[in-house]
Amino acid sequence: MPDPGSFADTVKQQADIVRIVGDYVRLKKTGAQNFGGLCPFHKEKTPSFSVHATRQFYHCFGCGASGDVFSFVQKIENITFPEAVRSVAQKLGIQAPKQSFSPEEAREAQLRSVLVEMHERACAFFEDQLRRPEAAKAREYLAGRGLDEPTIRAFRIGYAPDSGFLLRDLFRGTDEALLRDSGLFSWKESETAKPTAEDKPLKTSLYSKFRDRIIFPICNESGKVIAFTGRRLSNDDKAGPKYLNSPETAIYTKSRVLFNLDKAKEHIRALDYAILVEGQMDCIAVYTVGFKNVIASSGTAFTEAQVRLLARHSRNVVVNFDPDTAGAAAAERSLGLLVEEDFHVKVLTLEQGLDPDLFIRRRGRSEYEAVLKLAPLYFNYLVDRARALHPPRSAENKAKAVNYLLPHLNRVPNRIVRDELAADMAQKLGIDSAVLRQELRRAVAARSGTVKAPPEPPITDAERILLRALHPADKGSSDMARHLGEIIQSERLHEGLANESLIRAAISAEESGLSDSERARVASILMREDEPLTTELVQGAVDALRRRRLEHMQREIRSRIVEAERRQDHSSLPALLQEKLRIDRELASCHGA
Ligand code: CTP
Ligand code: MN
Repeated sequence: MPDPGSFADTVKQQADIVRIVGDYVRLKKTGAQNFGGLCPFHKEKTPSFSVHATRQFYHCFGCGASGDVFSFVQKIENITFPEAVRSVAQKLGIQAPKQSFSPEEAREAQLRSVLVEMHERACAFFEDQLRRPEAAKAREYLAGRGLDEPTIRAFRIGYAPDSGFLLRDLFRGTDEALLRDSGLFSWKESETAKPTAEDKPLKTSLYSKFRDRIIFPICNESGKVIAFTGRRLSNDDKAGPKYLNSPETAIYTKSRVLFNLDKAKEHIRALDYAILVEGQMDCIAVYTVGFKNVIASSGTAFTEAQVRLLARHSRNVVVNFDPDTAGAAAAERSLGLLVEEDFHVKVLTLEQGLDPDLFIRRRGRSEYEAVLKLAPLYFNYLVDRARALHPPRSAENKAKAVNYLLPHLNRVPNRIVRDELAADMAQKLGIDSAVLRQELRRAVAARSGTVKAPPEPPITDAERILLRALHPADKGSSDMARHLGEIIQSERLHEGLANESLIRAAISAEESGLSDSERARVASILMREDEPLTTELVQGAVDALRRRRLEHMQREIRSRIVEAERRQDHSSLPALLQEKLRIDRELASCHGA
């Protein structure tokens, strides 16, 4: 929890966790104050992630992740606390003061923010270069590929001039080590010398990595430019690789970025499906004709991180690349990964030789829309392929077809879905379904079971209610919480409870003493607010604990009396009996309450 009055605290007061989390996770209202969705921090197919509007925190009943708005942003963006505070502040338009970080954090955060700034400057530079006379060739190239000015502006497409020194001049005065770390430059070591003392700068000359190329900026999910990809203008291999990409840097991890996700995400959510294409030119073409829920994998196979990134917005995807051709292996891996992550996948294969970009330019928007609508489910597509590869006329071929399909089927995490698919396939292949079912049962059995939640100590209703009351959801009920804490403490009502540590921490407001799992437990209890917290409810809970304590004392005193009688200890008996009477009376009045 941020220190009261600190900048972080100010930001937290103004931030709406539902809105901020909603930027990353599809949330649905699930209660008066609760919103639910699929947890972005672990693999799941039914939503167990919950955000509480009044209490301003999130909790996942599946993996136990929980915390406030900053911890969420920290985790999801993989950044430090100060960076998360800044990020949230920025979303709210709050000006951040100069922060003090630990030296380590400061250096990293500083490096990242400088690199982002440099990329922004470089991007503007490339955009500007495209408008210069020397870039006529580049503009012609883009026009030839059907890109108009609004599209060029929307995607911030630019041109890297032939000279490698213009970009370097733009960063004149910038530390050379930083220029190297930026990924924007190449260099030749002028001496192949052994490394000299660290502080002694090597004699090198840096020049722009991208030269005479069309530049497509690559943005992170918040739309900040973090890398570039440059396409050569000619189709001549002498001009180097067709696409040249930024190397990985402190701000760019290729496997965690999806091209165009920043622009597409709201559309992916609204339409509840994404179109996945291979190349950025394909992506731009599809986007420009109005299918704005499109993203590109940029030619390589999907990674799990990318699949998760997408899953936050929708689990339906139309994959628009041809798994039969050149990139078949990568395509198949991507499709497999999507199936494993429980995506509902359709495959759109355009007629021979046409990628989405070419298809749209030749056939136009409405034909693309038509084929998009007709895209078959991935598994139907696979059955067609199995039939084509092994025409199911002989028993042998049928077995081959089944063997072809089994590994794909095996990726489906949901057993019921797997079963349905199997039955469907059996029918389509004209296979005695008993045979296929037998094969499938083996496959089904081979998959491991689901993850079980760790056992938790039982919690009584009274404990649950008191924990809720001790964590006031608003300022108005914090006096009540304090008062309640005093009662519990003075009467030692929490002693010996299964959840004593949680209540103790709540009273002292020192949640930091709790373990992660205990904190998660508190969060999970606070999330389940099915009934309003009335004074009667709290009073009832206090009474229950009083009764419990008195009953405990009653048992104690009884055994002490028995013991005293056994020892014929007549001197202490009267006091003990007196005490028992007092407890009995108190318990009776308690019951009556
Ligand atoms: N790619 C890459 N490096 C290369 C070639 C391709 O990173 N040397 C990536 C690019 O993201 C490219 C994608 O793989 O968009 C698909 O490659 P390809 O089909 O060859 O290119 P197109 O997308 O069709 O590109 P263009 O239309 O510009 O020819
Ligand atoms: Mn193409």
